[in-house]
Amino acid sequence: MRLADLFAAEPERVARFGGTVAGIHFDFSKSLMSLADLDTKLVDTGRVRSRRDDLCSARIVNVTEGRAATHMVERGVGPEADIARTTRQHQLMERLCARIEAGELGAVSHVIHIGIGGSALGPKLLLEALSRPSTARREIAVISNVDGCALEPVLQRFDPAKTLILAASKTFTTLETLTNLESVLAWMEAGGVGDPIRRCVALTAAAGEAEARGVLTDMILPFDETVGGRYSLWSSIGMPLALAEGTAALEELRSGAAAMDRHFLDTEPARNMPLLAALIDHHHVTVLKAPSRAVFAYDQRLESLADYLQQLEMESNGKGVTTDGKPVTEPTGPVIWGGVGTDAQHAVFQLLHQGTHLIPVEFVACIEPGHSLDPSHHHQLLANCLAQGAALMKGKPYEDMLASTGDPALAGARTFTGNRPSATILLDRLSPFALGALIAFYEHRTFSFAALCDINPFDQMGVELGKQMARAIMDGGLADPDPSTAALIARALPATGA
Ligand code: F6P
Repeated sequence: MRLADLFAAEPERVARFGGTVAGIHFDFSKSLMSLADLDTKLVDTGRVRSRRDDLCSARIVNVTEGRAATHMVERGVGPEADIARTTRQHQLMERLCARIEAGELGAVSHVIHIGIGGSALGPKLLLEALSRPSTARREIAVISNVDGCALEPVLQRFDPAKTLILAASKTFTTLETLTNLESVLAWMEAGGVGDPIRRCVALTAAAGEAEARGVLTDMILPFDETVGGRYSLWSSIGMPLALAEGTAALEELRSGAAAMDRHFLDTEPARNMPLLAALIDHHHVTVLKAPSRAVFAYDQRLESLADYLQQLEMESNGKGVTTDGKPVTEPTGPVIWGGVGTDAQHAVFQLLHQGTHLIPVEFVACIEPGHSLDPSHHHQLLANCLAQGAALMKGKPYEDMLASTGDPALAGARTFTGNRPSATILLDRLSPFALGALIAFYEHRTFSFAALCDINPFDQMGVELGKQMARAIMDGGLADPDPSTAALIARALPATGA
């Protein structure tokens, strides 16, 4: 199947494989899939639609943990009682932000947001995408890694007397986050702040755990346990954006997501962008056996988009059993990786153009520039973005290269097989509204893909074993270590023994 042949045979391809929603244009027409294949897949979307109904009615969709998944409620979509409770939670955050702005907590010129996984990746993406030093009300550092090399430079730079801590953890039991929190509290105390826990806000679904650690009740901003970690930036976990750019920015982000929710819930399958993307992903993964998808944001402000999507998609869909616990018979979620253009062109695109793996590529760009420098920057950026998708598809035939070089070896090296699939997502501008819609698009695409595979995208049990074994190594009691691990422990952590 050649993409060029598909475009020639299917004049409606560009229209059928794309559309515009909430200021975002989606072009999936360079997918390695015919319209006939798409139509066949569209017939079989019953499970996606019934799970979608369960999702938006807050019925149990996380079957292994017996929970609903209520991230849509955070943006006002779902059962009324749930929306009313969530609205009260949002108001708590808004009131605390107002107190901070009014100076009731003293000067707050620095904020250290401590969290990991979904409790950090979302806030980091939001800050990078939507806050600029020229507009930010204060400097906010997002610290996730337990490696002190992440936290130490921030402590060297920030003023302990003017620092506010956001301790973000759904469970409030995550060891890395608690370790970083202890170190920040100790630094504040050493810096002369009496009772530093009074300057700690807990963003959590486990208020009891936060209270047990001494966080003041009126500094706990709760969200529901049914909001998954990687779906939590809409809740109080998104507070860094509110502290940097104001609570209205977070509100606008949620409105953009709600617009995409409505599209996902109300639009027929053939015009439904998240579902369309999931059907294509499923075809690429299960029929063409593409093991990964690469995402490149042609916008520096979205430099963490690939990291964010890595957690969203790989933690959700990196599963080996179906919802009833049986081994899957087809591949599930692909490896997600990527970076930013044009940097990545000079680093990894060689493999995408001439390597031996089939890797669908996704380009994300914004038509309006995010800076005021000479327009040539943005012109060049977008031209490169659009050129890459075209080049991946077109390639350069061997015969042409042989004719121009006259040298078979050189002609081989200069040949591009082409016919490599890509998708392009164009935002009119990177507003909070558009980013909210974009993230919600990816959430629903991930959810739809899971339904197509009949897997549960809302648990993450695969992260537990490594955590348990790390705890055992720290406690010096890893049972029956293999010879390699025993030798490594003896070398790196001799005090703990094996
Ligand atoms: O270990 C995986 C995980 O549970 C993620 O799903 C989650 O985003 C992250 O850890 C952090 O968890 P918490 O917010 O409870 O600290």
